[in-house]
Amino acid sequence: MAEPRKAELVFIPAAGVGHLVPVVEIAKLLITQTNHISITILIMTRPSDTNILSYKKSLRESSDPRIKYIDLKPEQSEPNQPFSEFVDSHKPHAREVLSGMINSGIFKLGGMVMDMFCTIMFDVANEFGIPSYVFFPSGASMLGLSFHMQSLRDDHNVDVTDFKVSDESTTLDVPTYINPVPTKVLPSIFLDKEGRSKMFLDQVKRYREAKGIIINTFKEMETHAIEALSNDSNIPPVYAIGPLLNLKGGKVNKQQEEDESIMKWLDVQPESSVVFLCFGSGGAFDGEQVNEIAYALERSGYRFFWSLRKPTPSNNFGYPEDYENLEEVLPEGFLQRNSDVGKVIGWAPQAAILAHPAVGGFVSHCGWNSTLESVWCGVPVATWPLYAEQQVNAFLLVKELEMAVEIKMDYRKHTWQTLNLNCEDVSADVIEKGIRVVMDPDSEVRKKVKEMQEKSHSVPKEGGSSYSSMRSFIDDVMSNVI
Ligand SMILES: *[C@@H]1O[C@H](CO)[C@@H](O)[C@H](O)[C@H]1NC(C)=O
Ligand SMILES: *[C@@H]1O[C@H](CO)[C@@H](O)[C@H](O)[C@H]1NC(C)=O
Repeated sequence: MAEPRKAELVFIPAAGVGHLVPVVEIAKLLITQTNHISITILIMTRPSDTNILSYKKSLRESSDPRIKYIDLKPEQSEPNQPFSEFVDSHKPHAREVLSGMINSGIFKLGGMVMDMFCTIMFDVANEFGIPSYVFFPSGASMLGLSFHMQSLRDDHNVDVTDFKVSDESTTLDVPTYINPVPTKVLPSIFLDKEGRSKMFLDQVKRYREAKGIIINTFKEMETHAIEALSNDSNIPPVYAIGPLLNLKGGKVNKQQEEDESIMKWLDVQPESSVVFLCFGSGGAFDGEQVNEIAYALERSGYRFFWSLRKPTPSNNFGYPEDYENLEEVLPEGFLQRNSDVGKVIGWAPQAAILAHPAVGGFVSHCGWNSTLESVWCGVPVATWPLYAEQQVNAFLLVKELEMAVEIKMDYRKHTWQTLNLNCEDVSADVIEKGIRVVMDPDSEVRKKVKEMQEKSHSVPKEGGSSYSSMRSFIDDVMSNVI
C-alpha cells in the first residue's frame, strides 16, 4: 500500500492575540478532521504587544504536536512602522523558515494561509511556488461587499470614499445582498480618505490571486451571499467553515468571582426574561446617552443586564474602561430603584451570558463575533452598531435575514478615533421600542433565530455544510502535494 500523503500547511496571522486565536482554532479544527495535514503557525509580534506572550506560552504548553509555532523576526523594527512595512520586514525570515522546511525533505508544503491583512506574504509563497489562501474572519456578504467596492474602484474608476458624503437615500446593488445596500451602512474603512480605504482595497485586490478563501460563516445563514460569490468567476472558491466562536471570552480568570455572581443572578431569573445590553470591546457610552438607555430600560419594564463602559477621550488611543462609580453616570437612584430587576456591570463575559436561558434579547453592536454568538445561542438581536463593519452586519441581520430588530442601523461612533461620526444620541423612545419588540416571546425574529440556531449547531458535525466545506479545503490542500 502506498504511504498516505502528508502536507504541511503554514498560517500567517496578523500581529496580535485577536488574530492569532481564530487561526489556532482553525488549526485545531483541521487536525480533528484529517491525519494528513500538520500545521505551522508563523507568529509576528509587535514590540508593544505584551499580552501575546502569555497566550503563546499557554499554546506551547497545551498544544497538539501537529501544530507548531515559530516566531518570525523582523529585519528591522521601528516603533511606529505602518502595518504593511511591519509585515514586509518579516519576509526574509519567512523565506528562511520555508526553505528550511523544504530542504529538510520532511515537509511537503500544501499551502500558505494569510490573514486578511497579510497578503503581502503572497510574494513569498509565490517565490516558492506554494499556493496561497486567505483567511477572512467575517462573513460572505461582507467579503462580497469588499470585492464589489474594489471592483468599483479598479474596474469602474469610482472613488468609493465619496460615498461618505452621498445622499441619505443612495443605495448600491451588491451581488452578495438581496436588498440594495444603503451607502450610509457602508463600513467606514471603505470611506476613509486618509489612506485606509486604499490600504484595505489593495489587500482585497490581492485576495483574487488566492487559491481559496476561508470565511467564518455557514452556508445556511448566508446562502445567497455564498452563491453569489461562487457565481463570480473572478472570485476564488470560498470555504465557509464557521461559526468559529469565541465562547471563552476575552479575559481569563481575572474576574472569575464576578462572573460567578453574574451567573447566580441570572440563575434566579425566569426563562427569556432578561434583556442583555453589551457593545463589545470598543463600545462605550457616557453623558446623556446613558440616561436615555436607562430611561428606556425602566420604561420597558423588562429585567435587564447592562454592560456599561466608559469611553476613553478620542485623542487618547485606548479601549474603553470600566466606570469606577456607576452611580455617577447613571440617573439618580436608578440602581436602587431597579436592584430587583436589573444589573449594571462593566466588562461582561458575553458568550456565557448569552448562553444563559434567562436571557431573551440582546441589544448589540453587531460585531461579527457577537452576531455569530447570538445565532449560536438563539437570542434575537436589537441592532445598535458603532464602528468597523457593524452597520452592514446590522443590515444583514435586519433586512437580509429578518432575524433582528432595528434600534439603529447607521449610527457610527468610535471611542478612540473620530471617524465620520453620525452619533446623535439615540432617544429613550427608540431604544424602548427596540427592546419591546426584541423581547416579544412570539415574534417572527425569535422564531427565525431559533431555527438558525439549530442549523448552526448541526453544520460543524459530520455531514453538515461547514464540515463538508472544511473537507473540501483539506482535499484542495492535499491536491497541491501530489
Ligand atoms: C472574534 O473571536 C476571535 C476568536 O474566535 C477572537 O480572536 C477575536 O479577537 C474576536 N474579534 C473581535 C473583534 O472581538
Ligand atoms: C447564480 O447563478 C445561477 C445560474 O446562472 C443563477 O440562477 C442564480 O440566481 C445566481 N445566484 C446569485 C445569488 O447570484
